[in-house]
Amino acid sequence: MSRRPWLLAAVLLLVIAIGAAAQELAAIKLPAPKMDGGKPLMQALKDRQSAREFSADTLSPAVLSNLLWAAWGINRPDGHRTAPSASNRQEVDVYVTLPGGAYVYDAKAHVLNPVTAGDLRAATGTQPFPATAALNFVYVADVSKAGRPSTDPQQMVNVGADVGVIVQNVYLFCASEGLATVVRASVDKPALAKRLNLRDTQVIVLAQSVGYPKK
Ligand SMILES: Cc1cc2nc3c(=O)[nH]c(=O)nc-3n(C[C@H](O)[C@H](O)[C@H](O)COP(=O)(O)O)c2cc1C
Repeated sequence: MSRRPWLLAAVLLLVIAIGAAAQELAAIKLPAPKMDGGKPLMQALKDRQSAREFSADTLSPAVLSNLLWAAWGINRPDGHRTAPSASNRQEVDVYVTLPGGAYVYDAKAHVLNPVTAGDLRAATGTQPFPATAALNFVYVADVSKAGRPSTDPQQMVNVGADVGVIVQNVYLFCASEGLATVVRASVDKPALAKRLNLRDTQVIVLAQSVGYPKK
């Protein structure tokens, strides 16, 4: 009987240790992207559209890899990307929320680096459907890299354009792959910035939901 408190404490510690381990999030090393195939460009443009209803199907590692590369991957040896950016500042970071956690895309390593554990999909939007999308992108600009003073209105025009071209890459990839997507400005940005542990110089610009269409 006298041993029971120790047993209880040991079990409690074990439960806490398992819980802590579950909170740890590993990086996702993406397979090499497949840079050929897909629908012809004119057909992808014809099929591009916004959709807000998603099935429960998840994205395979191959589709996730191709999607990230299409969005904002490196397509030349000098580090230039699949989307243009003003003066090639590359001030945009692509954050990704999956059911298991939030990540940030490292294009050079083609890896999703962990940001925080837990399902933040619902927190990426004020509408109900982001919670049901397999993935939500959050496009974050580091304005300290944007190359113009924050008081210059052209800075935010450039940042918006830089995000917009990434958004369209995702739209075209989704049209080609039969995925559903919609870009979203309806985001509680201060709340989401906190959840993503953003720095003061980082600004959330837009979010975008991606998943398989509801059958
Ligand atoms: C900058 C921008 C912000 C948008 N924000 C939202 C949004 O918060 N929620 C939403 O459901 N759709 C949003 N949309 C999607 C538009 O509603 C959609 O593109 C428009 O209705 C035209 O439909 P289409 O994309 O199918 O051509 C946004 C689109 C853009 C370009």
